[in-house]
Amino acid sequence: MFGITTRRFIARLGCALLPLSASVLSPSALAADGTGDNQVEVLNWWTSGSEAKALGALKDALATQQIGWQNMPVAGGAGTNAMAVLRSRITSGNPPTAAQVLGYDAQDWAKRDALATLDDIAAAEHWNDVFPAAIQNFAKFDGHWIAAPFEIHSTNWVWANKALMDKLGIAQPKTWDAFIASLEKAKQAGYTGLAYGGQPWQDTTVFENVVLATGGADFYRRALIELDPQALDSETMVKTFDNLRQLLAYKDDNSPGRDWNLATAMVINGKALYQIMGDWAKGEFLNAGLEAGKDFMCFRTPGTQEAVTFNSDLMIMFDTDDAQQQQMQQTMARIIGSPEFQLTFSWLKGSVPARMDLSADSLDACAQRGYQQVQAAAEHSTLMGSLAHGYAAPASVKNAVFDIVSSFVNSDMPSDVAAEQLAMAVKSATS
Ligand code: GAL
Repeated sequence: MFGITTRRFIARLGCALLPLSASVLSPSALAADGTGDNQVEVLNWWTSGSEAKALGALKDALATQQIGWQNMPVAGGAGTNAMAVLRSRITSGNPPTAAQVLGYDAQDWAKRDALATLDDIAAAEHWNDVFPAAIQNFAKFDGHWIAAPFEIHSTNWVWANKALMDKLGIAQPKTWDAFIASLEKAKQAGYTGLAYGGQPWQDTTVFENVVLATGGADFYRRALIELDPQALDSETMVKTFDNLRQLLAYKDDNSPGRDWNLATAMVINGKALYQIMGDWAKGEFLNAGLEAGKDFMCFRTPGTQEAVTFNSDLMIMFDTDDAQQQQMQQTMARIIGSPEFQLTFSWLKGSVPARMDLSADSLDACAQRGYQQVQAAAEHSTLMGSLAHGYAAPASVKNAVFDIVSSFVNSDMPSDVAAEQLAMAVKSATS
């Protein structure tokens, strides 16, 4: 089923990197099994089945370079918990070798002068030419590369159980109204329409989909990226909350607190029809041995087809005086940015490569389409940062939006009150 197997890829990557390793690492300084000083500690929040497998590809690639692996996983989707742990590690003067972060958080650590630069690797590997501007804006700071991009995820996707669609006679909905009608059909037949995880970051992941579906790309940009108060407290935002309320009628009663991958499992197991989620959800389908287009369907959230809301996991390396750690950081950055790794990682993770110069033929059908859509959106300036996943606004704004959206989801707050509170919360987070 895999275009290239992980093992074959690792063997290839090992060969590809061998000539480089001699200059980057002195093998004699390293224990053969990659233990002792010769290991990297990597903080991340990749704990679901597919996420752990994707991370395993990095661990295996490092092992071919005699670099050992100390995993530092902090469970919790979208990295909220992981970022709290990272802050305390840094404040106590004990940063890990590297950490998985999202866009604004990478910029934040760079501003505080906590990061190593990756300029040499970036120059040698021509990163300026292969990563799109939307990614460079976050992976570079003050003209210097400060992060290695793993992939591009996008958040405006619906994941659907194909057998259930067929059984209920549901064709892929193209409009918001058709989407709601199909959810209603599932509900009438006794199924959960929307597999939903009631956690703040998931509430806002769904919310940003509805913002885009209701107001279009320009409205999304004005409201969630430019934080224009007139867009935040507008008729269109009121309508957005109305549409969100309509959607919430199709989740089940056990949604509060549910992890995203458990919601994905509801679609995989045929208990629910759809999940609105970033394409890391697809990693779970593939990890369960399911095939895109045959066992499950992927389509852009109806009404959002004109744009792609994206995020990208970035690996940042913390500044250190230890020469061996520095070398291992550079090697890790080189691996992450390499074509082979980008493809293998995306296959396991559900994403598409962050590099724009690859062929997606070895990836699944959703990723092939997704990669084209990302490339087209990058060209037409409709590749817009996800708010819930750290690419639209700084963490203070993101958290303020989380609060309002989740209060709306968990109460009967009227839509006009929600729009007004949203504008107020964003204003106080930015002033
Ligand atoms: C996103 C991250 C993904 C995935 C997801 C769920 O923010 O970019 O890689 O981990 O959270 O935790």
